Amino acid sequence: MRVLVIGAGGKLGSRLLPALLAHSHTVFAFVRSQSKLESLLPPALLEKITIISGDAEDIPTVKSALLEHGIDILICTAGSPSALDGSGPPSRQGHISASIAHAAVQAGRERKNPVKGWWVTGVVLLDIPGRLPGEIWLDHIPNLRPEHRLTASTLYSIPTTELGWTILCPSGMTPRSTALTYSVEVGNEIVFGANYAPYFELGGKGELPPPMRARLGDDEMGKEIGALVTEHTAIMEDIADRLAEELEKPTGDWVGKKVGLKYVPGTTVKAI
Ligand SMILES: NC(=O)c1ccc[n+]([C@@H]2O[C@H](COP(=O)([O-])OP(=O)(O)OC[C@H]3O[C@@H](n4cnc5c(N)ncnc54)[C@H](OP(=O)(O)O)[C@@H]3O)[C@@H](O)[C@H]2O)c1
Repeated sequence: MRVLVIGAGGKLGSRLLPALLAHSHTVFAFVRSQSKLESLLPPALLEKITIISGDAEDIPTVKSALLEHGIDILICTAGSPSALDGSGPPSRQGHISASIAHAAVQAGRERKNPVKGWWVTGVVLLDIPGRLPGEIWLDHIPNLRPEHRLTASTLYSIPTTELGWTILCPSGMTPRSTALTYSVEVGNEIVFGANYAPYFELGGKGELPPPMRARLGDDEMGKEIGALVTEHTAIMEDIADRLAEELEKPTGDWVGKKVGLKYVPGTTVKAI
């Protein structure tokens, strides 16, 4: 596939580049600063990708990147989230997501072939098991991550016939290595799940990060969300590899869905 990574200089975005190449995709990197990306990547990786400079909130720039390079799938990793304790400036991430979505809809209409795309948000956007579809963990943490709500409401308002959108909802992600090379040596044991966190059962008790605990308290819901957050953390390189593998499939199994992820050691199951 021809894949455009938007926010390709970020921690996850830059790790997606070698993973996508390893899975035989043609890779395009959309960044605000070409020189910054060039200083980050090893030369062997740089020569295999095409860099496009621009601001992801600029709809015409994103649209022309999609059209000029015949992009099949975009991955939006751009924008930083708001602080867990509510301090600091408001995040632009939801606005960035929306601009990219609108650009992709326009590009799809113009070329008469809808664009597909994955938007990276957070685990608290997933549905709560046992509740009505649509009740999400974020509903129980007032004012946390409003940018995720904006991303979700924008994408849910767009028919999948116009844009093949998927919302990836990871918990905390850490890099395995500072080296931006393909580094998955054993089988990738990350499983994806649609709309709910895969293999998550209610009744768990986990510790929330202190800024979230300060907002939520230590009640049952706080412990439940603590379990959700801690059980679904993952290594960035593994997520990148799993997603790159998924994009090899032409079927688009996850279109119109939120996607949670979890390590399930020894499993041969790839999706639930
Ligand atoms: N890290 C985690 O633990 C975690 C967990 C769950 C979800 N997420 C989500 O996953 C995504 C990726 O996370 P990350 O840790 O890789 O973030 P990151 O390292 O902060 O990377 C974000 C990238 O977005 C780029 N960006 C910001 N505004 C832009 C704009 N207007 N146009 C183009 N590019 C823009 C930044 O470019 P510059 O280099 O020019 O600043 C940066 O390279 C984020 O959306 C985050 O909310 C992260």
